[in-house]
Amino acid sequence: MPFILDTDTAQDDCVAILLGLFDPHADFRAITMVAGNVGFEQQIKNAHMTLSVAGKLGEVPVFAGCSQPMLQPWVSAEDVHGDGSGGLSMDFTGCEVEQEHAVDALLRITAESPGEVSIVAIGPLTNIATAVVKDRSFVKNVKSLYIMGGSNNGRGNITPVAEFNFYVDPEAAQIVFDAGFADIVVMPWDPVTFNDATLPRPAYNEMTSAGTPIATFFKAMCDTTLDFDEAAGIGGSTHPDSMTLATLLHPELIQQAGHYRVDVQPGNGLTRGYASMAWDTFKKEPNARVIEKADREGFFALLDGLLRTHTTPSRDVAGL
Ligand code: RIB
Ligand code: CA
Repeated sequence: MPFILDTDTAQDDCVAILLGLFDPHADFRAITMVAGNVGFEQQIKNAHMTLSVAGKLGEVPVFAGCSQPMLQPWVSAEDVHGDGSGGLSMDFTGCEVEQEHAVDALLRITAESPGEVSIVAIGPLTNIATAVVKDRSFVKNVKSLYIMGGSNNGRGNITPVAEFNFYVDPEAAQIVFDAGFADIVVMPWDPVTFNDATLPRPAYNEMTSAGTPIATFFKAMCDTTLDFDEAAGIGGSTHPDSMTLATLLHPELIQQAGHYRVDVQPGNGLTRGYASMAWDTFKKEPNARVIEKADREGFFALLDGLLRTHTTPSRDVAGL
């Protein structure tokens, strides 16, 4: 399954990278970086550190993309994730991003194999929207676009109505949902993350005690967010990003999905980033499939297998 991961690398984004590196169905073509969770340069370091922990530094090219949203001021999630490094670090000498801009890489890689490469977008949609605007044939060249974002008629997280990825760049999100992609799959925050992609602390403690570098890294990267999630009344460690990639690689994890018309509120007002997900009653032309239920046990089994994977880090990671 060839794919590109467009990410704002912190916490669960790093888990998605690890899943993409080890899943037997994954043909991991590129990591494209977008402004989101934490500082842009830190996100790039987090991506390189993740590749290093997996023992695969240099095996997947990292491209730097849009370091600011299209119109709205950037908003970070550092209050949720810290800087996304989990307090870990390594020698980043020589860990360079590719010369090519991420938007150009998205356009080139999908144009080289029209209709074969999917994109998994687990951060704000700035890079994806910019690619659409730069070359409209992009929409036709992308096999499927899997998006982590929005809530399906439920709670937001960054505000009562908005999920973070759509909130950071709502204009980009609307461009993407209007662009005409043949197959968009949305993995929403509410309710699916809560019901099927949240790891309760007892299972989290069990899984992260596997004694491998990946398990230790996973715990370091996710502890801060777990504390935040529980303080916010969420029942454990949230993993919507890795679930999004998992559903591309293992479609059987999607137990229920519906066709919806998805639109995102632009601007910087009270409802910035709100995602309207209109089901058939409203007689709107659908533009996406929205996951309504996923196989939580199957997903957790994937995560458990990932954390038990033995690796020799490419470089020493201090604190691992
Ligand atoms: O709202 C959830 C999204 O923002 C995920 O992509 C995660 O990275 C969080 O920061
Ligand atoms: Ca993310």
